[in-house]
Amino acid sequence: MGTIEENKNSWSHYDWSHSGDEWSSCWGGTDYLWWGTIFPRIHPFVPCGRVLELAPGYGRCTQYLKSMCCQLTLVDLVENCIEACKQRFELADNIDFHVNDGRSLNMIDDASIDFIFSWDSLVHAEADVMESYAAEFARILKPKGRGFIHHSNMGAHRDPQTGKLKAGVENPHWRAESSSAELFRGFCESNNLICVSQEMIAWGGETMNDVFSYFTHQVNSPVKETRVIENPRFMEHASRVLELARLYQPQRFMENKG
Ligand SMILES: C[S@@+](CC[C@H](N)C(=O)[O-])C[C@H]1O[C@@H](n2cnc3c(N)ncnc32)[C@H](O)[C@@H]1O
Repeated sequence: MGTIEENKNSWSHYDWSHSGDEWSSCWGGTDYLWWGTIFPRIHPFVPCGRVLELAPGYGRCTQYLKSMCCQLTLVDLVENCIEACKQRFELADNIDFHVNDGRSLNMIDDASIDFIFSWDSLVHAEADVMESYAAEFARILKPKGRGFIHHSNMGAHRDPQTGKLKAGVENPHWRAESSSAELFRGFCESNNLICVSQEMIAWGGETMNDVFSYFTHQVNSPVKETRVIENPRFMEHASRVLELARLYQPQRFMENKG
């Protein structure tokens, strides 16, 4: 999983019959993932005017974001994802839908977006794609706009001599191996953005394979240096949220058994 073509091929042929909700099971479902894990991180940025959700898939997060903004712009590399979102959200009158080339956002005007959001998608995007998107983010963000994106940190675990993953490091979730928190920080700097914070997480293993980057324009940043933290317990938190789901929505689990 890496190049734009590989991503396009893989996600065009993926079995989307559960709309991506299958990836929320560790949390006890998508409602619990959203309210227990995603919303606590992004609540300072919404509600707001115009949001870009990059790579929404079949709309797992879109269903919540659409009521947290005046206008929601959806951009995905894969046509059937955008078609599925059009159908799923046909009653919403504040969403515009676009298929892109996997690296540019030329359907979006300069300085027009208040909040950029991407979840569980750019983890599969290699460094060249992240570099290209960083330049686009700088162009489309309003002066006080903010971004929160979930992307790969697998590049931090490569052996610089061989370019391959260091001994003992595995990549079971198909993370992009050239991308990293540090590289994205640099791409932001080159475009006069700054990562205000980066939360490195271990997604389904011991390796800090993923990162959440919160960024904004340098001139309007509340900080001058990025705060980077490691959160190896990310999945433990998901298990706690799952416990809550089992306590307060037990019928969901009974239905699943039945
Ligand atoms: C694992 S799915 C996640 C979808 C959604 N964010 C969710 O959490 O359910 C990955 C999505 O990323 C999209 N994607 C992958 N690479 C992309 C790129 N370079 N630009 C835009 N979309 C991309 C795929 O088409 C697919 O819809």
